[in-house]
Amino acid sequence: MTSNSIIDSIRERLDIADIVRDYIPFLKKAGRNYTALCPFHNEKTPSFSVSPEKKIFYCFGCGEHGDMFTFVMKIEGLTFIEAAQKLAQKAGVPWKDENYASVSANEKEKIELKKALKAASDFYSKFLFSSSAAHALKYLESRKISRHSLEKFSIGFSPAQGSVLTEELAKKGFLKERLIKAGLAFIRENGQAMDYFRGRIVFPIKNTLGDVIGLGGRVLDDSQPKYLNSPDTPLFSKRRVLYGLFESLPAIRKEGKILILEGYMDVMAAHQHGISNAAAPLGTAFSQEHAVLIKRYSKDAVLMFDPDEAGETAAVKAGEILIESGIYPRLACLETNLDPDDFLQKRGKTEFEKLIAGAADLMTFRINLILKKTGGKLSARQKSLAAGFLIETLLKQPNEVIKSEWVKMISQRLGIEQEAILLEMNKKRPGGQAVAPHGAGAVKPEDEIPAIEKGVIQLLLKNPKFIECAQELTDEDLQSEFSRKMFNAIRDFSNDSPDAIVAKLVRSYPQYSESILKLSIEAMEDDIHPGVFVKSVEMLKKFSKQRKLKELKQNAQNMSPEKLEEFSKLAIELKGKQAEDYGAD
Ligand code: UTP
Ligand code: MN
Repeated sequence: MTSNSIIDSIRERLDIADIVRDYIPFLKKAGRNYTALCPFHNEKTPSFSVSPEKKIFYCFGCGEHGDMFTFVMKIEGLTFIEAAQKLAQKAGVPWKDENYASVSANEKEKIELKKALKAASDFYSKFLFSSSAAHALKYLESRKISRHSLEKFSIGFSPAQGSVLTEELAKKGFLKERLIKAGLAFIRENGQAMDYFRGRIVFPIKNTLGDVIGLGGRVLDDSQPKYLNSPDTPLFSKRRVLYGLFESLPAIRKEGKILILEGYMDVMAAHQHGISNAAAPLGTAFSQEHAVLIKRYSKDAVLMFDPDEAGETAAVKAGEILIESGIYPRLACLETNLDPDDFLQKRGKTEFEKLIAGAADLMTFRINLILKKTGGKLSARQKSLAAGFLIETLLKQPNEVIKSEWVKMISQRLGIEQEAILLEMNKKRPGGQAVAPHGAGAVKPEDEIPAIEKGVIQLLLKNPKFIECAQELTDEDLQSEFSRKMFNAIRDFSNDSPDAIVAKLVRSYPQYSESILKLSIEAMEDDIHPGVFVKSVEMLKKFSKQRKLKELKQNAQNMSPEKLEEFSKLAIELKGKQAEDYGAD
């Protein structure tokens, strides 16, 4: 067993409610627990619960669950060790690298990959200012990137020759395999390692903590591909990262708003012009993961994509994903052939800010596009096509008030009867929304646990000391695997405090973590009398005997004398018990 003492002392010192409150300020007290709207899924009534006593959280809506470490991991997108480090700081517990001893191999690898990426990024940014990269620096100057921006975004340049980085990092002790895994090098057909980025301006891509997790690289000329991104690695997935988000976080937090642009250069130009809340997906489509990421920091987003067909389509798609995630997006329209970077350089900040101020809501933006394309007057056929598109967007709007405003807007601006829109919308309405599956591989045994066992385990989770009243209970008396495992483990851990027991159970039985946390946090009367527990244990015993009796009866024909004796003993016992239960004296 690895030592988790540092983890335990962090847990002891911190209040999970305080930690959750950092992200969800509107935590409401509800009995012993706190509740709030779940930050992990979309909901209108709160089903997210936090128990300060057990130091756990559980969402009755989506099943997301865990302790303070898991919470920070999930909400910040961190690895366990990063979350632990963050919380250690908060708890005032000194964090030492030796703590890595208690870290999984997976975590260790990620830490090593990050070191390699940081070393590569440092090498590239140093190289940009070397004499061999004078042409690259000149190119950046021609793109009007300031020195300050180069530093703020740690911009670098990768040597054009084959394997300069790989050799440089090898000298520093980085294994070739690790560089390959980090997406910094690859093996050529001749078996030689080669740098992944060559002769490109390098844009380090950071997670929300500022660690470099991937790189983007732009050529200096017209060759293809114009931009190259790190391949997906254990650290890096394009679907989950926004370029510039780390640098934008202070402004996003302050303004409560994010500006989403299309590319690397757009983000840099925005920041350089004092618009510091700009970030961009990495050339991939805007994903649901992006929306989840944004939602942690801001409920309000403005999208400004390139003013071409592809940009408009991408903006509408991104807008729909955002509304489905409960974020209110507005779409700004450039109405020139300049992308945000060009626009800022040519027209300046004031004009740019006007565009942002004039950003339209998603439905207005779509209607504007339709009116622009059709020249304003729609035929019946065009109206029906337009309604078809717009109903897709209507169906994605979870807010009924906005939805009805949108119906009115379509009706007024495109000259379509409201009833017709509603009728068409009803035809397309999906038959109930599926809840996204979660926690693949997790066992959700509640349905198979007999209610009485569930009750007993729940009582034990809340009052582990009750176990003393269950001396007679054995594995045989419990029907479900879950109950047996929990019962025995609680007996083993019974000297610990209730919150420590819950933490240990989750650690020992990760496959049951959801059920453990759910049962521990579920509302129950505050002070349960031990008598309730004793009675439940008696019931379990009785049911178990009844099962045994039934089993013996089924094999009555060839019953051995010993079995026969057992049978009659049980039968008598149960009869007596029944009399007791019915109040005979
Ligand atoms: P753009 O082609 O609009 O480039 O691609 P840009 O951002 O205006 O860059 P400059 O001004 O030409 O230097 C937008 C984004 O799409 C991704 C990049 O993230 C880029 O910033 N992209 C583009 C790629 O990933 N690969 C490519 O080959 C091109
Ligand atoms: Mn551009």
